Amino acid sequence: MISERSNGLFGIYVHWPFCAAKCPYCDFNSHVAKTPVDQGEFVKAYIKELAHFAALTPGRNVQSIFFGGGTPSLMDAKTVETILEAIANHWSIDPGVEITLEANPTSVEAARFKDYKSAGINRVSLGVQSLRDEPLARLGRMHSVTEAKLAVGIAQSIFDRSSFDLIYARPNQTLKEWEAELNEALLMAVGHLSLYQLTIEQGTRYFDLRAAGKLPMPDADLSADLYLMTQEITASAGMPAYEISNHARIGEESRHNLIYWRYGEYIGVGPGAHGRLLIEDIRYATSTHKQPKIWAEQVMKTGSALVCNDKLTWEEEADEYLLMGLRLREGISPSRFHQLSGRLLDKGQIGELDRIGFVETLPNGNLRVTDKGWPVLDAVVADLAM
Ligand SMILES: C[S@@+](CC[C@H](N)C(=O)[O-])C[C@H]1O[C@@H](n2cnc3c(N)ncnc32)[C@H](O)[C@@H]1O
Ligand code: SF4
Repeated sequence: MISERSNGLFGIYVHWPFCAAKCPYCDFNSHVAKTPVDQGEFVKAYIKELAHFAALTPGRNVQSIFFGGGTPSLMDAKTVETILEAIANHWSIDPGVEITLEANPTSVEAARFKDYKSAGINRVSLGVQSLRDEPLARLGRMHSVTEAKLAVGIAQSIFDRSSFDLIYARPNQTLKEWEAELNEALLMAVGHLSLYQLTIEQGTRYFDLRAAGKLPMPDADLSADLYLMTQEITASAGMPAYEISNHARIGEESRHNLIYWRYGEYIGVGPGAHGRLLIEDIRYATSTHKQPKIWAEQVMKTGSALVCNDKLTWEEEADEYLLMGLRLREGISPSRFHQLSGRLLDKGQIGELDRIGFVETLPNGNLRVTDKGWPVLDAVVADLAM
């Protein structure tokens, strides 16, 4: 039975944890294997873990499958195909399903795009990161601008839908430099573009460099200006933000991302993957073991490698809904908040946030954060969650 707390959205996230090298800014669950990865062995574990989650989620209709990483473009097309077959054996697949693979834009990887399409992939998301060679090298990337542009072109010629990522607010980056780079990117982008401000995460090489005073990061004012300029330029180019860092032409939004932010249901398979499942009207937060080898061993022994399988309270669910949904331009539905939490949003609090210009109510009744409120989103969420 589908839970009453469901909005009918259901997606599958598949985490491929391996990379050719570790980028100095990255804190994703990515590992550089010392010996070649035995994909045939790993795929058995993915199939087993999918079966585990399938038994818990009968009757769901899959609207999105996302291969993320790590570097999924290091997967053989056969590995991707086998995982997609296993998914189709367990669940019904929506006719408009979006099947995305995250790819690094080296020429070796772009050469696999055709095979990925034959395997069932219908959208790729490329980690271009910069359209300038010097910052690419500093970011530890293994591709050049020329290679990245070629990979984008190849992706666009093979797939109807594609996207690429850029990182801005980088060390030493000026407004003028970013303006020129972003305008170039908008000329290349077809339907979707992700623009992330560089964040410095603990445990990364960039974290140590910054601590040692060797990473001249933009200050808060410059970061805010870079962000505002990004919003203005993308909006006037017809690619406004539908989420803080994600831009799309109308209808080209990533369905996978929307499942997260609209607080749908998704399973996460693979090392360190996260999921949110509804079982007998209770929402579970799941995550799996991060170490690829341990993950695979545990899955093969017991069917899953969960390190977290927490039941969320109604309050926790509603807080997560706010946290995710208020990232979206479309905002959140106060009635869904009520349905999830069993309580109404505080009218006085909304009035106060509205008065200072941080939130607004849309004609459809949704509540959204304004341009002015987005830079202080966490504080707005905290106020509403109280
Ligand atoms: C899972 S990552 C990487 C996918 C792929 N392996 C790659 O590197 O292109 C997805 C995206 O997150 C962004 N990202 C990763 N670390 C970041 C950081 N510290 N700050 C901002 N963006 C980051 C990058 O734009 C990257 O393309
Ligand atoms: S940024 Fe991408 S390629 Fe670099 S280490 Fe992280 S996941 Fe791997």
